[in-house]
Amino acid sequence: MDNMLNVYLFGKKYEVPAGLTIMTAMEYAGYDLVRGCGCRNGFCGACATIYRIKGEIELHGCLACQTEIQEGMYVATLPFFPLEKRIYNIEEIKPTQQIMMQLYPEIYSCIGCNACTKACTQELNVMQYIAYAQRGEYDKCAEESFDCVMCGVCSSRCPAGISHPQVAMLARRLNGKYIEPECGHLSDRVKEVNEGIFDKEIEELMTKAVDNIEEIKDMYNHREIEK
Ligand code: FES
Repeated sequence: MDNMLNVYLFGKKYEVPAGLTIMTAMEYAGYDLVRGCGCRNGFCGACATIYRIKGEIELHGCLACQTEIQEGMYVATLPFFPLEKRIYNIEEIKPTQQIMMQLYPEIYSCIGCNACTKACTQELNVMQYIAYAQRGEYDKCAEESFDCVMCGVCSSRCPAGISHPQVAMLARRLNGKYIEPECGHLSDRVKEVNEGIFDKEIEELMTKAVDNIEEIKDMYNHREIEK
């Protein structure tokens, strides 16, 4: 068959049609993806993957659902990357520089190699957001890391052992709780959700089968939008 590419999935060679993503190539090859597959649209970070092209030395990180296969690609997925998540109670901590020193002291061992930024599957400036976290500039860290999908590929390349996505998550939580002004209509809506006002709608939405995707899209496109 024309347009077939040779790829190596978990060390085993397969011929798959050009144009597939790594994720669909794995399914074409017969893998049943139970782990390492979520939204299929580049948002959930469940499909972190590393690959190397035959004959090249560079190791790449990517999302399997967003990356097209190439000839001679050696692929291994990372359905889970062991990030270090420190335990804290957001109600009891404050957005001081000390809290980062206390919870994630390893960020001060950053050697500035920028491997995290080069590895980021979302093309974020990871080293920069860690620098903001070091200085206690949580609003900037939150902004810079906003599109992080927590795939962990940055951390897999870090010689200082930093769990960048967890550092950024702490910064965003501190920023949301203590730094940004309260968003009144959001608080009201959360209260309404907790009071069960939308229970019926949520239940209806959840019972819609996946094959009703067009109907769900239609509901989304015709939803009531706040003025
Ligand atoms: S499956 Fe969610 S980002 Fe790829």
